[in-house]
Amino acid sequence: MTDLRIQIGNIEFKNPIFTASGTFGYGNDVPDFVDVSKLGGIFTKSITLHPREGNPPPRIVETPSGMINSIGLANVGVDHYMREMVPSYSTIGTKIIMNIAGSTLDEYAEIIRKMESISSDIVGYEINISCPNVKKGGMEFGVDRSLTAELTKILRSLTERLLIVKLSPNVTDIAAIATAAEECGADAVSAINTVVGMSINPTTWKSNIYTVFGGLSGPALKPIGLAAVQKIFHSVKIPIIGIGGITGSLDVIEYFLAGASAVQLGTVNFQDPSTGERMIDELETYCKDVSIDSISSLVGKVKN
Ligand SMILES: Cc1cc2nc3c(=O)[nH]c(=O)nc-3n(C[C@H](O)[C@H](O)[C@H](O)COP(=O)(O)O)c2cc1C
Repeated sequence: MTDLRIQIGNIEFKNPIFTASGTFGYGNDVPDFVDVSKLGGIFTKSITLHPREGNPPPRIVETPSGMINSIGLANVGVDHYMREMVPSYSTIGTKIIMNIAGSTLDEYAEIIRKMESISSDIVGYEINISCPNVKKGGMEFGVDRSLTAELTKILRSLTERLLIVKLSPNVTDIAAIATAAEECGADAVSAINTVVGMSINPTTWKSNIYTVFGGLSGPALKPIGLAAVQKIFHSVKIPIIGIGGITGSLDVIEYFLAGASAVQLGTVNFQDPSTGERMIDELETYCKDVSIDSISSLVGKVKN
C-alpha cells in the first residue's frame, strides 16, 4: 500500500488533499454525499475579527478557463465562529486549519489571541495575506517582504499551532516573500491565491464584477501555481502547499514534482465537492503504477 501521509510541522495528515479557503465553507456545512473524513484536511474560509457582508454583487463571473470572484471576505466573524462552528470539529473526522484575514497587524493578532484562549481541535492557522478583493489589508501584507516578516513574527509568538502563510501570485518575487515567512517562523507556505483579473460585458461596457477587478481561479491558474511552487521550492526548506487550478489527480502529481508537499482544491469544489475524496484513490493507483511507496518521495523531483 502506498503511504499517502504527509507531515507539516509537528502534525501528520492522513493524505495531502486539502480543500482551499473560501470554497468549502467552514467545513461543517458540506452536502451529505461528501465524506469529509477522507480528506487530509479542510482550510476554512477566511475569518476576520468582525463579521463581514463582503462586496456587493455581482461578485462571481465565469470565464473560459476558470472564474473571477470578488467575494470580499464575507464571513461570520471570529466570535460567532468560535461559538457556533468550532465545537462541531471534535467529530468531523479530519483536520481543520482556520484561515484568518485582517486589515491590520493587530486584527490578525487579536483573532489568534481569541482562538488560543479557548480549547479547540483546530490544528493550525493559514494566514491570508493575499486577498485581492478587499480595499484594506490582505494583499497589502502579501506584496511586502518586511510586513510579511513582521506579521509572521508576531503571530508565531502567539501560537504553537501550525502557522501557514498563504502567498499571493500578484508579486514580482514570490520566493522572497516565502523566505520572509520561513525566517520568521512559519511552518509552511501555501501558494497561490487568485490572480487579479477582469471580465467585461461587451453589451453594457461594464465590468462583470461590481468591484471592477476580482481574483481569477480555476484551471487557468495551474501553470502559474506550478511556477510559483517551483520558485519557492528552490528558496525555502519548509513544506509548500500547492494551490491553483487542480481538477484531477495528475494535477496533484505535477504540483508534487514542482515541490509541493500537499495541495488544496478550490474552484473544482463548486463543480463537485467530492472531487477530493475521489482523488485519494487515484493517487494511490498512480503511485503503485510508478512503483512509489510514499507520495512524499515525489516532492520536487521535476527533471529540469
Ligand atoms: C469563491 C472563492 C472564494 C475564495 N475565498 C477565499 C478566502 O476567503 N480566503 C483565501 O485565503 N482564499 C480564498 N479563495 C482562494 C482559494 O482558496 C484558492 O487560493 C484559489 O481559488 C486558487 O485555487 P483554485 O484554482 O483551485 O480555485 C477563494 C476562491 C474562490 C474561488
